[in-house]
Amino acid sequence: MAGIFRKQRDRRQDAVAVRFEAVGLRYGSGPEIFTDIDFSLPSGSFHFLTGASGAGKSSLLSLLYLAQRPTRGSITLFGQEVTSVHRQELPAVRRRIGVVFQDFRLLDHLSALDNVALPLRVAGVSEEEIRRHVPELLSWVGLREQMNARPPTLSGGQKQRIAIARAVISRPDLLLADEPTGNVDDRIATRLLHLFIELNKLGTTVLIATHSEGLIQRFRFPRLHLDGGGLAIVDPVTEEVRALVGAESTPIGREPRP
Ligand SMILES: Nc1ncnc2c1ncn2[C@@H]1O[C@H](COP(=O)(O)OP(=O)(O)OP(=O)(O)O)[C@@H](O)[C@H]1O
Ligand SMILES: [Mg+2]
Repeated sequence: MAGIFRKQRDRRQDAVAVRFEAVGLRYGSGPEIFTDIDFSLPSGSFHFLTGASGAGKSSLLSLLYLAQRPTRGSITLFGQEVTSVHRQELPAVRRRIGVVFQDFRLLDHLSALDNVALPLRVAGVSEEEIRRHVPELLSWVGLREQMNARPPTLSGGQKQRIAIARAVISRPDLLLADEPTGNVDDRIATRLLHLFIELNKLGTTVLIATHSEGLIQRFRFPRLHLDGGGLAIVDPVTEEVRALVGAESTPIGREPRP
């Protein structure tokens, strides 16, 4: 699978991709969804995002892809404070983020191939390069036969894989995926996780919201867990290491927790 992603010049990366400081969110006059959330994601890290249905996973992701602003607090992406910047500056930040939406958000009048090619066309990539890379990625996610099909004629799991291919094709600096394996079987889910891991190896910071205990147990990445308006970082690997060495240790690349 090496070479599945386009080669490109490595962009300058800040040490921290995402930083939330005392972030609060409420919709209208409803209850607070988040209360004073603090966390940071080092560049190149890989985390799951977990929590019960309604805990706020999609809401947290929407703050990250700048679909909405927090009610209070500060969010920094790639070293830039985004809650106070001018709207005109947001598209440049957004272009560095790939998103797999829980409801896919594909363009129904375009083929699978054209949906996936869209971010490359927007970025001015040549048609020759698009013809080389998009079919390869679609084949990799098991959609070789469906390349020319339009989303309304495809199954939920097939649409989900188009949405994933579209999110990763431009090798974003930050990949946000909302239940990206919610509609596929275990075998395809594992394959998709490996795609995210390959992207992560190339430097992309990855955050995946999931309900799947199977994936969490199998891949054992640290997770951000939402509960009751707060967020906790659960790090199974560190917990294992801690049990082995029998001592307190600070997770590598992360600030000590309060
Ligand atoms: N646009 C909105 N307007 C008002 N309330 C909203 C809006 N979006 C989400 N909420 C509320 O915010 C809370 C968190 O919703 P969110 O969709 O972020 O949860 P989730 O963890 O993604 O759930 P699921 O696992 O079911 O996808 C819920 O109580 C929901 O009703
Ligand atoms: Mg959700």
